Amino acid sequence: MSLSIIVAKASNNAIGKDNALLWHLSDDLKRFKKLTMGHPIIMGRKTFESLPGVLPGRVHYVLTGNKDYKAPEGVLLFHDVKSLMESLPEGENFVIGGEHMYKALLPYAGALYITEVEKPFDGDAFFPEIRPEDWVVTEETEGEGNIPHRFITYHRK
Ligand SMILES: NC(=O)c1ccc[n+]([C@@H]2O[C@H](COP(=O)([O-])OP(=O)(O)OC[C@H]3O[C@@H](n4cnc5c(N)ncnc54)[C@H](OP(=O)(O)O)[C@@H]3O)[C@@H](O)[C@H]2O)c1
Repeated sequence: MSLSIIVAKASNNAIGKDNALLWHLSDDLKRFKKLTMGHPIIMGRKTFESLPGVLPGRVHYVLTGNKDYKAPEGVLLFHDVKSLMESLPEGENFVIGGEHMYKALLPYAGALYITEVEKPFDGDAFFPEIRPEDWVVTEETEGEGNIPHRFITYHRK
């Protein structure tokens, strides 16, 4: 089993505000879909509720402390990180947010797919600092759109 993180973050590490994203980048959404399609996606309850609905073609692994939480078909609920991790299948699994999940699962991630938005944003949710000495950049491409951004892939050294 491998764990990968996918995130779009501002230059000050902001990732969201009021449980929503801070920008609309259509090439980023397309890349998110392409990379995650067919793979399990792991998220916190707040990120799950920020989605437009259940994303097709991907089993959702959602963490919540609320044992009464009801979720639609295609969504697996977990109440602690350990049992979620033990339930993940072979192959690549994607952590898709938010701040709580990135912080909790970064130590277990082998790859990071980071969309680096090249300016700061006013947010209330942030991506944790990564230690550059732990990671090697394996791919880097320029994004296209109204806000300058780059797609950077890191693998753990
Ligand atoms: N830019 C990006 O790429 C990106 C991606 C995803 C999300 N975001 C943004 O990130 C923000 C949301 O982040 P967030 O940190 O507030 O929320 P989150 O990580 O999505 O969800 C937090 C919730 O997950 C549950 N949870 C977390 N850790 C748990 C644990 N150890 N045990 C049991 N349950 C646990 C809790 O749910 P309960 O409260 O139900 O107990 C907690 O309130 C939003 O603004 C969103 O738009 C940005």
